[in-house]
Parts: sequence; C-alpha cells; structure tokens
Amino acid sequence: MIVRAARETDIGPMKALIDRYAAEDRMLERSDTFLRANLGDFLVADDAGTFLGCAALAGLTTDLAELRSLAVASDAGRRGVGRAIVLACVERARERGLRRVFALTLVPDFFVKCGFTLSSLGRLPEKSASECPVCPKRFACDEHAMLLHLDGTTPPALAPGDPVGGVHAPLPPH
Ligand SMILES: CC(C)(COP(=O)(O)OP(=O)(O)OC[C@H]1O[C@@H](n2cnc3c(N)ncnc32)[C@H](O)[C@@H]1OP(=O)(O)O)[C@@H](O)C(=O)NCCC(=O)NCCS
Repeated sequence: MIVRAARETDIGPMKALIDRYAAEDRMLERSDTFLRANLGDFLVADDAGTFLGCAALAGLTTDLAELRSLAVASDAGRRGVGRAIVLACVERARERGLRRVFALTLVPDFFVKCGFTLSSLGRLPEKSASECPVCPKRFACDEHAMLLHLDGTTPPALAPGDPVGGVHAPLPPH
C-alpha cells in the first residue's frame, strides 16, 4: 500500500466513502464541488489500484493545518491504513514548514495512537472563529479537538473547565 496525492479519478471513491460515514453521522459530508475544488489537499491510500481511504490536509495559517475528511474503507479497517494516511499528512505538513496539525474528531483515541494530544477548540481560534459559525454542528458540537506539535513538544494539557466538545459557536453576523 502507498499513500499518494489524490487524482481526479479518486473523487468518486472518496465521495462514496465519505457519504457512507456521513450518513451515519460519523463525519461531515463533502460535496463533489468541494472535493474537486480542494483535490490538492487530499491524499489517498492505494493498494495496487484499490482505493482504501483518504484524508485532506488543509492549511489554515502559515503555522497551522487541519487534517480533515479522514476515512478508511470498513473492509480495510484496523490494518494500519488510517495511521499511514495520518502520518503522510503530518509529513506533508512538515515539508510545508507548518508547526501544528489538528483534527476535530469523534474518535479521539485513534488520534492519540497517532501521537496527537486532546486539546480544545477554544485553543484553536483560527478554526473556531472562521468555520464554526457556519458548521452544521455549530449548536451541538460533539467533536474532540486533537492537536500535534511538529517540533516534538506536547501541547499543554486541558485546564479544568476547558471545553472538549460541545463548544457552542456564536451565530454568524447578519
Ligand atoms: C477512524 C479510522 C480512520 C481508523 O482507521 P484504521 O485504518 O482502522 O486505523 P488503524 O488501523 O491505522 O489504527 C491505528 C491505531 O488506532 C487504533 N484505532 C483504530 N480505530 C480506532 C477507534 N475507532 N477507536 C480507538 N482506537 C482506534 C487501532 O487499534 C490502532 O491501535 P494500535 O496502534 O494499538 O494497533 C476509521 O475507522 C474510519 O474511517 N472511521 C470512520 C470515519 C471516521 O471516524 N473518521 C475520522 C474523522 S476525523
């Protein structure tokens, strides 16, 4: 198996997989238009031509990127494919000179296995200020913010009372 940059022919399999998990409320849906427009952010796991999974690394600032739309086909699960995709995204972030990668997720323990630390959306204003107000989950966010520092330091532990999920973002301005 290799993890490589996504190609136009991957859009169909990526959308089908993401749609399947989105229908189960396990991740956010992505439109065909979104996948086309952001194809350059996506990496896919490819086993001799068979699509196994994908994720995107989206730069938010010169310092910070979000790992999003991570999905592994259920019949390829628990074989290290998800970790390989995450590590390839982290490597891509390193090559781009970024310092931090985060993910919002319902599977925090998986990200811990990939080296991430539980953080809080409140510590990632670059994300929460720009995207939370228009997120379909804005009134009932149940995602955990997982953060990785690429310089090897461990992000600060959550303080008592820091929100984990369930952050209620403000309404967008009229
Ligand atoms: C979460 C997901 C990406 C994991 O992919 P995977 O290929 O099965 O994961 P891996 O085999 O690489 O697992 C790496 C480690 O994480 C653990 N792990 C995998 N899924 C886990 C889960 N749901 N909860 C806790 N630990 C998990 C594995 O046991 C393994 O641990 P080990 O190092 O002790 O052996 C996959 O199950 C998936 O696509 N889920 C549905 C969509 C989703 O939730 N995406 C995440 C959105 S941010």
